[in-house]
Amino acid sequence: MLATLITAVVDGLEGALIRVEVDVAPGLPVCQIVGLPDAALSEARERVRGAIRNSGFAYPQQRITVNLAPAGRRKHGAAYDVAIAVGILVASGQVPASGGDWALLGELSLSGEVHPVAGVLPMVHTLARAGARRVGVPAANAAEAALVDGIEVEPLVGLDDAARLVAGPRGRRAARAARAAPVAVSGALEERASVRGPLIDPDALVDMADVRGQAAARWALEIALAGGHSLLLVGPPGAGKTLLARAIPGLLPPLGEREALEVTVIASVAGLLGPGDGLRRVRPFRAPHHTASYPALVGGGPRLAPGEVSMAHTGVLFLDELAEFDRDVLEALRQPLEEGSVVIARAQGALRFPAEVQLVAAMNPCRCGFHGDLDRACTCAPGEPERYVRRVSGPLLDRLDLRVEMPRVRPAELLLGPDPEPSRVVAARVAAARDRALVRNEGRLNARLTGRRTVELCRLQDRARELLALIAARRSLTARGVHRILRVARTIADLDGRAAVEEPDLLAAADLRDPAAPARPDLAA
Ligand SMILES: Nc1ncnc2c1ncn2[C@@H]1O[C@H](COP(=O)(O)OP(=O)(O)O)[C@@H](O)[C@H]1O
Ligand SMILES: [Mg+2]
Repeated sequence: MLATLITAVVDGLEGALIRVEVDVAPGLPVCQIVGLPDAALSEARERVRGAIRNSGFAYPQQRITVNLAPAGRRKHGAAYDVAIAVGILVASGQVPASGGDWALLGELSLSGEVHPVAGVLPMVHTLARAGARRVGVPAANAAEAALVDGIEVEPLVGLDDAARLVAGPRGRRAARAARAAPVAVSGALEERASVRGPLIDPDALVDMADVRGQAAARWALEIALAGGHSLLLVGPPGAGKTLLARAIPGLLPPLGEREALEVTVIASVAGLLGPGDGLRRVRPFRAPHHTASYPALVGGGPRLAPGEVSMAHTGVLFLDELAEFDRDVLEALRQPLEEGSVVIARAQGALRFPAEVQLVAAMNPCRCGFHGDLDRACTCAPGEPERYVRRVSGPLLDRLDLRVEMPRVRPAELLLGPDPEPSRVVAARVAAARDRALVRNEGRLNARLTGRRTVELCRLQDRARELLALIAARRSLTARGVHRILRVARTIADLDGRAAVEEPDLLAAADLRDPAAPARPDLAA
């Protein structure tokens, strides 16, 4: 008998419809799957066989042929397991297909549990668009599937749940003859947790009230978040660089409607959504470790999955210990940082993932960490501190909008003095400046303005223009460098609620771009 079921796979951030045709016929007991890459094929066959047996059904001792169509489409993951298994049950007469046309998604364990899969949100969206009215999804993915309008969603815990759906009310008794397999959902959850990647532990969230001293760095961070500018924190160990960065999630405004959907789709495909996770509202903050591989950071790899830079889309990518990252990996980040998206090459044409992120990075000034410290001698060999900084690719350093030194905080500063401003207050200023910029810039943060628009929107008076020309000449700035300073100056004025960028904004922006260079032409002369 021939059975046909509908399932889906993920392709980039899109779902694609897959038709599963199963034929069970007399002959030698073999199972042939057509339309899958070799490696995935034998694994799928083993999972399906184990799941059918351990769910109380019989694995047919006949010739089983499974065709996944269209054949030309690459099929990642294992979301088609459930459809294949149910197809075999229907084609072998164990389950009547009297429940109507259910699309099925889910990976099977050998014991017959339905494991969560990545990309359920875009897959269900595609199914709904293609006219499917009902879909069974892994229970742990039910919340994200429910975000799609116009399609009925049923959670699946085990293969027998999928069989009952397809059998419908009339055929249910037949399907129920299968004894329910003991299901250990905890196993699935543990596995899920391991692919979730570096999450910021809520206990590790820092309030700005806990960051003492460091006025310059606090201000630079506020500017960076208000304008979407990239920021580098440089300072000795223990200065509070990591501490300050951990305050970022509490300073970012929540996601807008369109952004929320984009971020949730990426999280779905990256396998970051946990059971019960619906629409993402919180702006992403990703802090990959410096040992992260190229595909982990940029994207791609065998699964063609989005990398950290895309998981941070609309939010912040924090690279702590920047100098410890692999140079090639950092080099590869340049293009996404500049263009706001990642292009991944593959056999069937390039794949593009969004990656509008703002980079925040932290590093020590040298290997021992005390180069330039007033109290403690640097123990690095001569020339070593310069080499240490050069380990970070020059072009990447050159693209950082803001750089700020964080000296060690004196004990008196840690213990005495007024309490610093809490995150709530800083976040309100950041949100107000962002709103101002987004309204004026047709929805772009200042960091994403083109050069020409930046000049227009700064509304410089003659004196400010002259000052900028002087700064540019003194520092031999390129047009790119001038625009960078202008964008940051625009944000400083936005934080202050001013329509025009004035001379102090330009001087501050120039200082923040390169603290070592003389910003004030009069002083340096
Ligand atoms: N400016 C600061 N205000 C309050 N505590 C600080 C500050 N700087 C450092 N600390 C304390 O020292 C610890 C280590 O700081 P950390 O942020 O890890 O330093 P870094 O990343 O610069 O090496 C922090 O967890 C915090 O307890
Ligand atoms: Mg640190």
